[in-house]
Amino acid sequence: MSFQTSPSHATSSLPIYTPEVAHATAPVFERLKGVIPDVEWPVHAPYVHAIRRLKEERDAVVLAHNYMTPQIFHGVADLSGDSLALARMATEVDASTIVLCGVHFMAETAKILNPDKRVLIPDLRAGCSLAESITAADVRLLKERYPGVPVVTYVNTSAEVKAETDICCTSSNAVEVVESLGTDRVIFLPDEYLGQYVASQTDVELILWKGHCEVHERFTGEEIRRYREGHDDLVVLAHPECPQDVLAEADYVGSTSGMIGYVGASGAPKIVLITECSMSDNVAVEHPDVEFVRPCNLCPHMQRITLPKILESLQEMKHEVVVDADVAKRARRAVERMLEVGPGKNTGGA
Ligand code: 13P
Ligand code: SF4
Repeated sequence: MSFQTSPSHATSSLPIYTPEVAHATAPVFERLKGVIPDVEWPVHAPYVHAIRRLKEERDAVVLAHNYMTPQIFHGVADLSGDSLALARMATEVDASTIVLCGVHFMAETAKILNPDKRVLIPDLRAGCSLAESITAADVRLLKERYPGVPVVTYVNTSAEVKAETDICCTSSNAVEVVESLGTDRVIFLPDEYLGQYVASQTDVELILWKGHCEVHERFTGEEIRRYREGHDDLVVLAHPECPQDVLAEADYVGSTSGMIGYVGASGAPKIVLITECSMSDNVAVEHPDVEFVRPCNLCPHMQRITLPKILESLQEMKHEVVVDADVAKRARRAVERMLEVGPGKNTGGA
């Protein structure tokens, strides 16, 4: 590896790879060697080093979703998890600032639960096709059409949509949340495929919306059958945002953390994770003996979060997530009610 030295006339504040940076980040690189090539590390290391230093100065904690790239997930995150875990962690941190490395609805959920903390997202454009698929006005129309039927909303929605909702859910607790209401019917929004999966696990009737995740809807049952050809020992784990024909081929269906837990508990030698592909790298770091088949469907929104943007976010304390106080108050009821339901059975383990 080569090192750059700082020219005395340097005006750029871009962090550079120095022997000090190499030394300080060596333990991180040691863990990431299997998934990040040697030649790439000098690009990431200066950012990892600078972010680690700055987050302390700023009294900030970095919360990262399981889909973050390994240099973020293993390099700078203080806490990581699926949407449910991130929501819970957001209520437990002491730091005055949360940098949410994930998509906008996750940062908004953290803000809803922590109105007095500063919540930053490194790129405001990190959206979600599910959150885009439904508005608060749509929910109000559905409530008029089905009076008295409770509304369960996936956390992958805007604060305004959550504010119209009786209770939120995530992929790890959706069945438990639906059943917690004790009704025969619920309106389940906006993920049609998650809704179909929940309907297959409960006797409660679900009224569904046609929202889809643009990443998971690309997988097909045919593709899974092809992966299995000649690999009888392949274990298929799928996220419930996938279409039904994909879930029918899976050995396990669960949230992102559910899948991670299953990898560890199952002892399976060969695994395919039918979800966003950065996650396989993150799990491979913890399980070097497992062979991962890696179909690569990336979430373009998650990929907007990069080390340079996290550093900029901490340097300039941007982009602050703001939620209207009345909307936040109503949305908080729905999120807190979900947290009271408990962890859910798709949270992890074989
Ligand atoms: P999890 O809650 O399972 O992490 O899912 C979030 C998500 O956006 C999956 O696409
Ligand atoms: Fe949204 Fe799908 Fe990206 Fe998850 S993977 S953030 S559901 S678009």
